Amino acid sequence: STGTLKDQLHRPLQDLRISVTDRCNFRCTYCMPKEIFNKDYAYLPQRDLLSFEEITRLAKLFVAHGVTKIRLTGGEPLLRKNLEELIHLLSGIRSANGQPIDLTLTTNAALLKQKAQSLKDAGLNRLTVSLDALNDHIFKQMNDVDFPVAQVLEGIQAAESAGFEQIKINMVVKKSVNANQVIEMARYFKDTPHILRFIEFMDVGSSNAWCMDEVMSTAQIIDTLANAGMPLVALQANNKSETATRYQHQDGQGELGFISSVSKAFCRDCSRARLSTQGMLYTCLFATAGYDLRQYLRSNEPNQDSNQIDVKISKLIASIWQNRQDRYSELRGSAMTTKDVTSQKIEMSYIGG
Ligand code: GTP
Ligand code: 5AD
Ligand code: SF4
Ligand code: SF4
Repeated sequence: STGTLKDQLHRPLQDLRISVTDRCNFRCTYCMPKEIFNKDYAYLPQRDLLSFEEITRLAKLFVAHGVTKIRLTGGEPLLRKNLEELIHLLSGIRSANGQPIDLTLTTNAALLKQKAQSLKDAGLNRLTVSLDALNDHIFKQMNDVDFPVAQVLEGIQAAESAGFEQIKINMVVKKSVNANQVIEMARYFKDTPHILRFIEFMDVGSSNAWCMDEVMSTAQIIDTLANAGMPLVALQANNKSETATRYQHQDGQGELGFISSVSKAFCRDCSRARLSTQGMLYTCLFATAGYDLRQYLRSNEPNQDSNQIDVKISKLIASIWQNRQDRYSELRGSAMTTKDVTSQKIEMSYIGG
């Protein structure tokens, strides 16, 4: 049962994104707005979180089904206690052909300065840092907890020193807040090995007051950069299921990426499954319902050994993927109205960016 799972649109299962906590030390307005994620917000209690052993056990089953890349997300993954232990366990997983998996993580970098080296030592391969502005005032407006940009930049430096050579930098652009940072960000990262990626503000979850007026599209950003003396040229895709369209500066310096989830949906080749903090499996970022895998891990039926349970979960994963038809972003472009998109979607901080 390895490597050949295809969904209803013939898309293989290749990536698993695992959320390790639903908490975050930032309150980015596009993700965890303060008004909703306040002191009364009910985060998951500890017993509901999958343990590292449970996560690793599931990850192995996904890898046996063809997953080659695992990304840890949150909330903010570095807030999960002893995360290095999990990284160590996951980095030991081998696919059917004996290859290690590509293990990576998305962080806001607030805790990266102190953790970069231990993450690297534990076996993390790659790193993506969220950074929405270089101007301190605007950065604070985006994170909404008064976190200074200098500390994020120190975190990135620490990651370089620890041996993460190429880091991806994710910038979500909201027209009224940080659109004026696009040029400065492109200039800053041009002379580094890091890949700056612009992300269109998405209508994910139900609490970020999304509206189309706030979306700065890929086309608009490319124009803005060209007008500022930074014309870009397109690069070939690394693989067809990737989220970003690749570019570089015309002089050959500095790769950039554009994640056009609103203006040009990329569902057609979406190979991503998501596992929530409490072990729900989602087959789309915009899903309204998931499948509870934890109940099987924790079932203590007397006549079943853990091997039998693994077989059962493995079959379940296969049938869920084979039935998958999700292509939310494509449908939003055609059939959906802004009213529909505010209904019952799962929050990004829960399902994992
Ligand atoms: P790389 O392999 O390093 O390129 O990773 P990635 O692009 O899969 O991961 P990353 O977490 O950096 O994704 C960047 C952003 O793209 C996320 O934070 C989301 O905003 C968006 N994104 C990722 N996956 C999906 C997806 O399946 N659907 C949509 N609509 N957006 C996604
Ligand atoms: N639109 C686009 N990206 C988002 N993220 C969170 N919320 C949104 C949104 N509404 C992504 C960002 C961030 C990561 C943790 O989640 O890319 O870097
Ligand atoms: Fe936290 Fe990342 Fe969401 Fe910002 S985008 S609130 S840093 S999880
Ligand atoms: Fe994949 Fe759903 Fe995102 Fe489309 S909207 S790319 S199907 S996760």
